[in-house]
Amino acid sequence: MNITEPKFGVEELELVKRCLDSKWVTQGPLTSEFERLFAMRHAVEHAMATTSCTAALHLAALALQLQCGDEVVVPAFTWVTSAHAAEYVGAKAVFSDVNLSTFNIDPVALEAAITPRTRAVVVVHLFGKAAPMDEIMAIAKRHGIAVIEDAACAVGTTYNDRPIGAIGDLGCFSFHPRKVITTGEGGMVTTNRDDLANRVKCLRNHGATGPAFGADPSKPYTMSTFDMLGFNLRLSDIQAAVGVAQMARLDSILAERRRLALRYSEMLAGLDEITVPVDDAGHTYQSYVTRLSRDDRAKRNEIMEHLADRGIQTRPGTHAVHRLGYYAKKYGLQPEQFPNACRAEDTTITLPIFPGMTDQQQTEVVKAIRSKLG
Ligand SMILES: Cc1ncc(COP(=O)(O)O)c(C=O)c1O
Repeated sequence: MNITEPKFGVEELELVKRCLDSKWVTQGPLTSEFERLFAMRHAVEHAMATTSCTAALHLAALALQLQCGDEVVVPAFTWVTSAHAAEYVGAKAVFSDVNLSTFNIDPVALEAAITPRTRAVVVVHLFGKAAPMDEIMAIAKRHGIAVIEDAACAVGTTYNDRPIGAIGDLGCFSFHPRKVITTGEGGMVTTNRDDLANRVKCLRNHGATGPAFGADPSKPYTMSTFDMLGFNLRLSDIQAAVGVAQMARLDSILAERRRLALRYSEMLAGLDEITVPVDDAGHTYQSYVTRLSRDDRAKRNEIMEHLADRGIQTRPGTHAVHRLGYYAKKYGLQPEQFPNACRAEDTTITLPIFPGMTDQQQTEVVKAIRSKLG
């Protein structure tokens, strides 16, 4: 049993065919349609498709003009590119510990990590559960720093009934196949700020800033000028075609994920050795991440091997990023720093969850866990 499986149907095929038949396959009308649907669903002014969430985070850091000498606070338990975004532009990723129950950044630790050099915080809505945005926005306001929401896992997630991705200055989403909806690879930057949206659009398109001042755009010989050092981070219309079809499935995918997640939590209740995820109404369960109730990495590994032997794929939640070579070496970070991030990396088990998963498959997973725990 796979840890996840995307859900596709004839709608994806039909839209990809429409794209190919049109002969327009790079960023074009289907990307615009995908962006329009995404912006509407997340109640945000601008949604700009890009090649991945990592590219979206990079674009966000560039749009905020973060640079050498700046510090960016990042949770210590996350995917490594939440931190890379700062490093790509020469800024320094400074880690902050997480809340072990929610796996999201701890606002107290965040505020303690802020220095006069801090320019931004990357807030991660890990596994589809919103971070405590009221506290985080209040801290950001108090210190005058920008907020980038890493919403890679959080398509459709809400915080107090409000879609995430537009609460901070910029939101960054992923359409990797392990995420809620997928375009193979892909990402989206969201913002309500026109200045940031203009910079993102320009930077993802080689830095093109439109016709030079005074040039007549209607003339066939008029070309764009390039005032910024940009990149090619455009999504293709072939991928956007899949994205448009996936947006139509979003609500049913989210409903199915929640149903399965709540069923897991009910079935695992009573197993003292396993801690189930903390639920809230806006949690979309991009991943269903359980934790061993005691700090026993060896036991966690044994359970994972036991499940693998029965053909059930699992993964640890994610990384304690400060223990990874690049950051540990560059900043002399010690493995025992950020103890909750370490405990989270060492004791989490992500169980299979995907639209189309049957109750029988789910029962099989729970039975396998019970048989190991006796
Ligand atoms: C929290 C987080 N941020 C960023 C990313 C990067 O996303 P992508 O693979 O689209 O670059 C991921 C992907 O796993 C993630 O989980």
